[in-house]
Amino acid sequence: MNKILIGIIVLGSLAATSNQVLGSTGHSSGHNHNTTFNQTSLTIEFQKPLLIPPLLKGEVKDGVRNFDLNVTKGKWEFIDGKFTETYGYNGPILGPVLSLKKGEKTKVNIKNSLSEETTVHWHGGILSQDVDGVHNADIQPNTQKSVEFILNQPAATLWFHPHPMHKTASQVYKGLAGLIYLEDDISENLNIPKTYGVDDFPIVIQDKKLTVDGQLTYSTTHMEKIHGKSGGSLMINGIISPYIDILNGLTRLRVVNGSNATNYDIDLDGKEFYQIASDGGLLSSPISMKKLTLAPGERGEILIDSNELNNKSYLYINGKQALELRKNKKTGLTSIPKTLVEVPEITKNLNNLKTRTFSLKTTSKGNTINNTPYNMEKLNFEVQKGTQEIWEIKNGSKMMDMPHPFHVHGAQFRVIERNGKTPPLNEQGWKDTVNLNAGDSVKILITYTTDGITVYHCHILEHEEDRMMGQFQINK
Ligand code: C2O
Ligand code: CU
Ligand code: CU
Repeated sequence: MNKILIGIIVLGSLAATSNQVLGSTGHSSGHNHNTTFNQTSLTIEFQKPLLIPPLLKGEVKDGVRNFDLNVTKGKWEFIDGKFTETYGYNGPILGPVLSLKKGEKTKVNIKNSLSEETTVHWHGGILSQDVDGVHNADIQPNTQKSVEFILNQPAATLWFHPHPMHKTASQVYKGLAGLIYLEDDISENLNIPKTYGVDDFPIVIQDKKLTVDGQLTYSTTHMEKIHGKSGGSLMINGIISPYIDILNGLTRLRVVNGSNATNYDIDLDGKEFYQIASDGGLLSSPISMKKLTLAPGERGEILIDSNELNNKSYLYINGKQALELRKNKKTGLTSIPKTLVEVPEITKNLNNLKTRTFSLKTTSKGNTINNTPYNMEKLNFEVQKGTQEIWEIKNGSKMMDMPHPFHVHGAQFRVIERNGKTPPLNEQGWKDTVNLNAGDSVKILITYTTDGITVYHCHILEHEEDRMMGQFQINK
């Protein structure tokens, strides 16, 4: 009799708790451990604030700005009460934002606390092979490596992620990705939002498949090798359905597509916003738009005007409410500048330049560039430092309908043509990754300013692992 009574009381209190916690999702009872909830029924939408990673300024010693990065294992609650084993830089998930200044000497001390090797690649940085984090750059478990470089390029939102052979996809998937806010005198003097975490937010979008017990086990089926690992839970900065408080006025979102393989269409439910930067820096002027598409590896900075929004509005990703924007009372910047920076015009007679062709192909056997899988021992071509070339990239995967984001290391290029036409305004600035849908053909203008061996690859990480990559040498 007693036992039964206790049982009823316990059940009663459980039901009450789950009512409170799960609220509108409708799971008020049936809270027992044998039930397999799908992930959405366990996630209360828009109850968690967006994770704002620490902004690190480093420590200046003898004119060098020093940072410490510890590549570490951790546990992260993507789903309440379930502790997922993850990787992160200096914490369980993602990484800090490194605040860098153009032209300044930077030193990053990287410690590998994982039980496998890793590397750190500075995606979008115009850096040569010795510091790029790709070739012979493995950092063995329990070892440390310091990398020194100078970013001499316009202010931009860059990012860093692992790049070890055959482990890039799984390590990014488990959580390794951080941002670089590279500033210069121009960006610092522009009247645009730049108060970190107040009107200037890093937004890393990813999707991951969590198992029933909340784990992230990276494996790929044959289909996932061909199409990339996509789907599952959508998250921003490692949080499923977060919210942010935004000022009255302008908010700047520095959006990074940090997914392994998914393209994201980002919108405000038909409301207008402005794109102010692409991968490699600010655009010449803000571009009014209603939808921004980012492929894996690409970045786009946008300005949102709270006057366009309700008290609660949403950033939609692929048609789904993904981030709640809550207006608060404080007022920030209100006027959108007419112009931003000077992006050099492409005036040179392009007909005199050498054109190189890259043909991207998806077959049921895999993905290739110019029908050749990447071979670490082989150079695909050589070029001369200081020269310019046109690369014509074609995605001939029409049958398989597979987009491929084409990325080049050590350079920021310009898109000069998309399918025979002038590219859209938001592709007219600096780029390091360009998306090609099936059937697309894109021409880029590239200038070789670094030296050594440089790679280019598809930024669908499963494709890159599957050797949809090539390398060339820039000779001094
Ligand atoms: Cu974002 Cu080769 O990398
Ligand atoms: Cu890169
Ligand atoms: Cu691809």
